[in-house]
Amino acid sequence: MRLDKYLAEAAQCTRSESRQMIRAGRVSINGAACRRPEQQVSEMDTIRLDGQGKPRQAFVYIMLNKPAGVVSASSDRREVTVVDLVRSAYPRRELFPAGRLDKTSTGFVLLTDDGGFAHDILAPKRHVPKTYRVTLDTPLTREMADGFAAGVTLMDKVRLAPAEVAPLSDDGRTVRVVLRQGVYHQIKRMFGVYGAGVDALHREAIGPVALDETLAPGAWRELTEQEVAAIAGR
Ligand code: URA
Repeated sequence: MRLDKYLAEAAQCTRSESRQMIRAGRVSINGAACRRPEQQVSEMDTIRLDGQGKPRQAFVYIMLNKPAGVVSASSDRREVTVVDLVRSAYPRRELFPAGRLDKTSTGFVLLTDDGGFAHDILAPKRHVPKTYRVTLDTPLTREMADGFAAGVTLMDKVRLAPAEVAPLSDDGRTVRVVLRQGVYHQIKRMFGVYGAGVDALHREAIGPVALDETLAPGAWRELTEQEVAAIAGR
């Protein structure tokens, strides 16, 4: 991110005000004054205005427990979005969801303004696993489990990568699914191949990071540096 953009967000000022402060020599990066608004900065840099202020992240990474009925988008003319739920805390950040959940689905949505990070974790080659708790309208069968392990072929002939599925409840209707790819409505379509319907779908984890159980639906917190690194596989 450019230094002037970073400072405008960190200091809650306009881009032209931040450029003036930078050109006036009031801003330092890692202890050295920097007068170049176009200088690139990252979350590794310590940026100070007038030598003060605690170091701030260049980007934010938020764990949100998405409630049902909220859409996974940055903005929407009619619907409440996941970004609307945190917007008042980050009025100048251009946040977006790094990976979507259906409107009816609940659980872990990662919001960020770091496009590079989002691109990395969503890249098909990276295979960051996503873990879901799914309630079915019929018990899990051996045929479904074998099909998931082999790679389900959807009704439109798209062949999916192998996925894990295991029962969580005695009646076999609550299951845990681990996916390593992200196709639209993927889990609903996978069970649909076997004539099973999904009554509820909750994302429990992204990579090795589980949704914080203390977060009520609609609540959120920033991810720690360690959690961001773990999700990115660093
Ligand atoms: N698969 C789905 O069908 N829906 C989701 O929200 C996530 C995965």
